[in-house]
Amino acid sequence: MERVLLNRFVSKGTIDKNIFGQFSEHLGHCIYEGIFVGENSPIPNTHGIRNDVVNALKHIKVPVLRWPGGCFADEYHWEDGIGPKQNRKRMVNNNWGGVVEDNSFGTHEFLELCELIGCEPYICGNVGSGTVRELAEWIEYVNSPSDSSVAQKRRLNGRDEPWRVKFWGVGNENWGGGGSMRAEYYADVYRRYATFCRNFTDKPICRIACGPSADDYRWMEVLMREAAFMFEGISLHYYTIPTGSWQSKGSATDFGKDEYYGTLSRALYMEELITKHSAIMDRYDPKKQKGLMVDEWGVWTDVEPGTNPGFLYQQNTMRDALVAALNFDIFISHCDRVKMANIAQMVNVLQAMILTKGAKMLLTPTYHAFDLYKAHQGARQIESCVIADTVGEAGCGVKAVSASASEKDGRINLTLSNLDCDSLRTVSVEGLNIAKASAKILHGAMNAYNDFDATSVCVTDFADYDVKDGKLSVRLPACSVAAFEIEEG
Ligand code: AHR
Repeated sequence: MERVLLNRFVSKGTIDKNIFGQFSEHLGHCIYEGIFVGENSPIPNTHGIRNDVVNALKHIKVPVLRWPGGCFADEYHWEDGIGPKQNRKRMVNNNWGGVVEDNSFGTHEFLELCELIGCEPYICGNVGSGTVRELAEWIEYVNSPSDSSVAQKRRLNGRDEPWRVKFWGVGNENWGGGGSMRAEYYADVYRRYATFCRNFTDKPICRIACGPSADDYRWMEVLMREAAFMFEGISLHYYTIPTGSWQSKGSATDFGKDEYYGTLSRALYMEELITKHSAIMDRYDPKKQKGLMVDEWGVWTDVEPGTNPGFLYQQNTMRDALVAALNFDIFISHCDRVKMANIAQMVNVLQAMILTKGAKMLLTPTYHAFDLYKAHQGARQIESCVIADTVGEAGCGVKAVSASASEKDGRINLTLSNLDCDSLRTVSVEGLNIAKASAKILHGAMNAYNDFDATSVCVTDFADYDVKDGKLSVRLPACSVAAFEIEEG
């Protein structure tokens, strides 16, 4: 029997709701077709933004959305995407498939999307090929209540009130596609850009520096030492590649048990990365005032056969839902340092929440994992300890069970995952005086996925548990994520 021990007297603090954030890039069919279809589309829309997609995203309470990239951000010039659509510049999207970008989805459209979803926008500025003035004026355009020429241009384009956007990224992957910079050079460039990222309202902006790729601890050290006094957050990017090889990443749906457990153990590497990066941050910022923003994470597989390799379109299985659950458990257990995370990406790209085909839309297992974890948003984390068998082959074994707990409004939220793809696991939840519980579950075979004609994975009510003597005993099916709402006696 597996055991989950909870101690509600020990907590790392509040779980920032933004760790359940999303990322949307001008890449493949994420923006165009996935989110934006244009006002004249027969697909029901609001000013060109798909209503079905917005409604689905509202249901999982998306807290924050990063845009316009990714690599795209460092070639994006925001002024190309404002004003009358017929006058907007057409550019080649060099990073993603070489397609022509007509800029019909720009700043106003993105910020309207965020208003429709009810989430905070997170705009990533162009440092790789842009200018300090461009970024400074983008912030002014979006946030200034004054009657400066830049703010007046916003009004001429139909928006009177400033949007008061808080989150601004100062470049993306500037160690690679964002300018191939060395850490020392980027730290200086960052300081220059950040000097001109100004506050225009009483809502101060949060400047997010480009952080390391995976285990580049030197990058973190240099940025913390040289530039931390000028940023409020620093990013971290880490993708889970099923095979561990960028040349042949593995199929999204066609994999065996070895690759399943290999993927989960690679996802768990996030724990080591956050622990080690946090240790560096702690030396410069012992009060933990700077956020670690994991603003790109998720499973990256080979594209679906027959699709454009530059569009990064992949299906999504129960394995993805479990990778999401493991990442959430890691972010939650480090909630004193991790203040935001953005899965890559929201629609039709990489580990997506939603896939679309014309007017059709499907919700992936990953979407449902976000749904099951949403109760943790803004709740007080409760320390948990899992005692469980190891499953999987040598070298890629993982604990059979993973968990997170939190409390809010007098109720306890508990999420449990069974990573064992073959067997039900009985989990004893101890440390609370449980009086009552209700639960929902997502489960299926490790390769199970939803397609446009049939839904095989979705959230259902769950009742295979007992409450006795203040303890909860759960019979958790193979390959599952369950969410409990608990009342104490
Ligand atoms: O998410 C896809 C790409 O991965 C992003 O554009 C880039 O930042 C990262 O390398």
